[in-house]
Amino acid sequence: MLILGIETSCDETAAAIIEDGTKIISNVKATTLDANRAFGGVVPDKTAREQLKLILPVIAQAVEPIGGIEKIDAIAVTRGPGLIGSLLIGVETAKTLAYSLNKSIVPVNHLVGHIYANWLETTSPPKFPALALLVSGAHSDLILMTAHGKFKLLGSTRDDAAGECFDKCGRVLGLEYPYGPYIETEAEKYTGAPKITLPRPLLNQKNYDFSFSGLKTAFLREFQKGQPKTALAYELQEAVTDVLVAKFVRAATEFKTKSLLLAGGVAANKCLRSKLQSKFSKIFIPPISLCTDNATYIAAAAYFNYKPVPWAKINADPSLTITSR
Ligand code: KG4
Ligand code: ZN
Repeated sequence: MLILGIETSCDETAAAIIEDGTKIISNVKATTLDANRAFGGVVPDKTAREQLKLILPVIAQAVEPIGGIEKIDAIAVTRGPGLIGSLLIGVETAKTLAYSLNKSIVPVNHLVGHIYANWLETTSPPKFPALALLVSGAHSDLILMTAHGKFKLLGSTRDDAAGECFDKCGRVLGLEYPYGPYIETEAEKYTGAPKITLPRPLLNQKNYDFSFSGLKTAFLREFQKGQPKTALAYELQEAVTDVLVAKFVRAATEFKTKSLLLAGGVAANKCLRSKLQSKFSKIFIPPISLCTDNATYIAAAAYFNYKPVPWAKINADPSLTITSR
């Protein structure tokens, strides 16, 4: 089965063809980074206008290897959460294509999608129950996945997400947008012994919640003292990943699931990846290129949760959560 995935929840405009939920036939992404860089972040309506120009060429390129869009069996599209203007472009394009080509359409929750990056290009997929740590720009969730499409939220952030914390602190340091990867690059330059100590919020609390807002304030205070950039980036990365790893380890010990999964844009962070890999002999971590937003996992999620909906019934919803239906 060939599914065309479409993803436009934030600043990426992406389309992919996935065969039988796992094989990547194509993976096309166009970024609006250039339009947004001067503003140091995503400007929603500017981004949506750019995406409107990009969406059809991106889809055309994605379907090239299969010899045309008529060859697809179904369309999967992100319907939320995300920026409403951006979501609408993907959703309305998908609806139009589904109607005009008479193809089925499967709406996908972007957060669920991220988790399905772990089903791509593997011959031994995760088994249930699975424990997932989903860390992105707006979410830091610990999730128990009991079957395809069945999620129980164990805990999430009470304020800022891990990615948001990286982004806001990166901005303070005057790094380039998108800040997360630049925090990582800056941290990698640091060679000395840690000189700054930032808090590890909620580290010892016996729950699965996170909080990164206070960490951000503590970071700002150290920055104002004139601490060097690399040392600040290093300690921030250590603090965020220490908390994420500790809570994940605690949940893994309590729930003893058959699989452990990492997902979301922050899963691209090498420090987080290596800390988790050193704690567990087997953990699913998507390749770095599949962690940040793209359409491959949207199509994979649709394949394993194949519930087509009449095109007229699909609406963009900017505020979906992992447990939304
Ligand atoms: O999943 P994603 O691409 O978009 C959302 O759904 O939010 O995640 C984006 C987030 C941003 O906060 C970005 O700074 C962060 O992931 N990120 C990273 C890295 N790559 C992306 N954070 C730390 N290290 C990275 N290498
Ligand atoms: Zn995302």
